[in-house]
Amino acid sequence: MNAIFITGTDTGIGKTTVSIVLLKKLNQLGYRTFALKPIASGCSLDRNGCWVNDDAIALQAAASLWRPYEIVNPIALKEPVAPHLAAKLMGETLSAIEVSNIINAAIQSEADINLIEGVGGWSVPLNHRELFSEVIAGLKIPVILVVGIKLGCLNHAILTYHHIVRMKVPFLGWIANCMDSNVLMREENIETLKHWITAPCLGVIPFGLTHIQETSVLNLDFISDYFQLFP
Ligand SMILES: Nc1ncnc2c1ncn2[C@@H]1O[C@H](COP(=O)(O)OP(=O)(O)OP(=O)(O)O)[C@@H](O)[C@H]1O
Ligand SMILES: [Mg+2]
Repeated sequence: MNAIFITGTDTGIGKTTVSIVLLKKLNQLGYRTFALKPIASGCSLDRNGCWVNDDAIALQAAASLWRPYEIVNPIALKEPVAPHLAAKLMGETLSAIEVSNIINAAIQSEADINLIEGVGGWSVPLNHRELFSEVIAGLKIPVILVVGIKLGCLNHAILTYHHIVRMKVPFLGWIANCMDSNVLMREENIETLKHWITAPCLGVIPFGLTHIQETSVLNLDFISDYFQLFP
């Protein structure tokens, strides 16, 4: 399956923002894209009485292939807390096999690239025994790590990178997201990560980049080569 999993160094560090820039760039290059957020916590009721999440709506709008909401976000959880806790509040439980089946069913064979946004960071639990990342490892979906450039990100990024590699999940590269306007020594932090992460840096997203702005900040040659895509 032509899929990419977008994980991040934490929650709220720019997975959705970067995913949208990535989708726009892939669309501009002429690829057919589909995007999904298999699990979202932090949902509100829409006018039809269905739980919907802002990230999933944004991904649905940014992908070139449109599919109904329940395909984009099959597990929509109300409270903005860890997914297993949000599920518990709704009287539900999550399991790796269920999430794996859901991803398999949602992936669009028509798409050149299916972009899957994770929830939280890489080691987010599904329950007391299973991590979301184990589903991604089982499906062998290559990963892009979004690093929110802020104080503490070196530790988070290096830990996450090592864990992904140890789980033998293909690691496509990482993207620096300058989401903190006050960070000190931003360039030096990014340079440090280039030494510690021996996979390519696919781009640096500047502070304040909005979804509609230009996408030249990303270099996706490596992704095109990996998936053998020819627009
Ligand atoms: N490069 C940036 N410049 C300015 N603000 C940014 C940037 N990247 C992200 N943000 C802002 O930071 C917030 C979190 O970003 P985003 O929603 O993309 O993170 P996320 O990792 O997808 O979060 P979640 O864990 O909830 O899915 C948003 O308000 C977003 O607009
Ligand atoms: Mg998000």
